[in-house]
Amino acid sequence: MNTLLLTPDTDPHAIATAASLLRRGEVVGIPTETVYGLAADARNVDAVHRIFEAKGRPQDNPLIVHIADFEQIYDIAAEVPPEAKALADAYWPGPMTIILPKQGTIPMVTSGGLNTVGIRLPSHPMARDIIRAAGVPLAAPSANLSGRPSTTTAQHVMEDLNGKIAAVVDGGPCAVGVESTVISLCGDTPRLLRPGGISLEQLEAVLGTVAVDRALREKIDDTEKVSAPGMKYRHYAPKAPVTVVFGTPAQSAAYISAHLGEHSGVLCFDDCAAQFPSGLTVCTFGRSDDEAEQAREVFDALRCFDSTDVTEIFAQCPPATGIGLAVSNRIKKAAGFHVIDLTEDKP
Ligand code: TXA
Ligand code: MG
Repeated sequence: MNTLLLTPDTDPHAIATAASLLRRGEVVGIPTETVYGLAADARNVDAVHRIFEAKGRPQDNPLIVHIADFEQIYDIAAEVPPEAKALADAYWPGPMTIILPKQGTIPMVTSGGLNTVGIRLPSHPMARDIIRAAGVPLAAPSANLSGRPSTTTAQHVMEDLNGKIAAVVDGGPCAVGVESTVISLCGDTPRLLRPGGISLEQLEAVLGTVAVDRALREKIDDTEKVSAPGMKYRHYAPKAPVTVVFGTPAQSAAYISAHLGEHSGVLCFDDCAAQFPSGLTVCTFGRSDDEAEQAREVFDALRCFDSTDVTEIFAQCPPATGIGLAVSNRIKKAAGFHVIDLTEDKP
C-alpha cells in the first residue's frame, strides 16, 4: 500500500481526502495535541480491525473514541454523569480521556471487549476538522507500532507505518507530547488509569479525591487483570534495555557517569548533557526545570537510540508531580520499571 502524506498547510484538499478515506473504512494517521493517532471509523468493525493489524496491537486493548463536539458523547456513552460534564467543561477540548459505560453503537472490537468506552475531544484544530469532515467518531490509538514509543511528528508515523496505512496527515509536532490522561468514571470513585497531559492535581481540583491505579507506578504481571489493559504491556521502549536513575539531576548524572560502559547511551536533561564524555550517545529531553518541554521531547528522545549501536541506556527522570507524573511513567515503562532510586535512605 502506498501511504499518502497529506499536508493541510499547503494542500487545501488534504482534510477532505483524509475524511473520504476514513468514510471508506481506511486507516489514517492524524495529528492531535498529545501524540499522533491511528484513526478509523469507530463504528466500522472492519476498519477498526485494520487499526489493530497495522499496529500489531493485542485485541484486548481498547481504543479511545475521538469526537469533535461535546454533544457527540450522547451517541457513544450510555450514561453521562455530572462528573463527566464537569471534567469536560474544565479540560475539553484537550488531553483527557473519560471512560464511561458504552452504548451498542460502539462495537466490541473498538472497546477491546469491554462494556465501557474511552472518549476524548482533542484540541488540535486539524483533528477536529478531520472528525467533522468524516462525520463519524474516530477510534484512534497512538500511531506507533505496538510497544514502540508514541509518535509526535508525521515523520515518526511514517517510520513505523509507511506502507501499512492509507495516509498520514501532517499537523506539525504535537504541542503536549505525551498521551491523554485516562480517567475512569465507571466505578464508585473516579480512578486515574493513565497519567497524561492533564495532571492528577488538575483532576482533583474538579473531582476531589481520585484513586490512582497501581499499574501507574509498578510493573504488573502479564496474567493480572488491570483496569486499563494498555498498562500491562511493555511500552514506549527503545530496542536497548533502559535503566532509570532517579534523584536530583546532579545525583543521577554523577551515578550514570560512574557506571557508563563502552556501548552505553544516556537519556538526560539538556542541562546535564555536557557532563557526559563526547562520543557517547546522549539524547536529551528538555531542561530539568521544564516538565512541559520534557513531555514534548521524551518520545522523540526515546526513538533516537534505535538508529545507534547502544546496548544499554541510562535515563534521568523528573519527579512525579504535575505533568512530570506522565513523563516519569513513560520513562519507567520504557525501562520495564527497572529503577535505581538514589533518594531512598540507605541503612
Ligand atoms: O492522547 C491519546 O490518548 C492518544 C491520541 C491519539 O488521542 N491515544 C492513545 O491511545 O494514547 P492508546 O490506544 O495508545 O492508549 C489508550 C489507553 C490504553 O492504555 C487503553 O488500555 C486505555 O487507554 N483504554 C482505552 N479504552 C479503555 C476502556 N474502556 N477502559 C479502560 N482503559 C481504556
Ligand atoms: Mg499507545
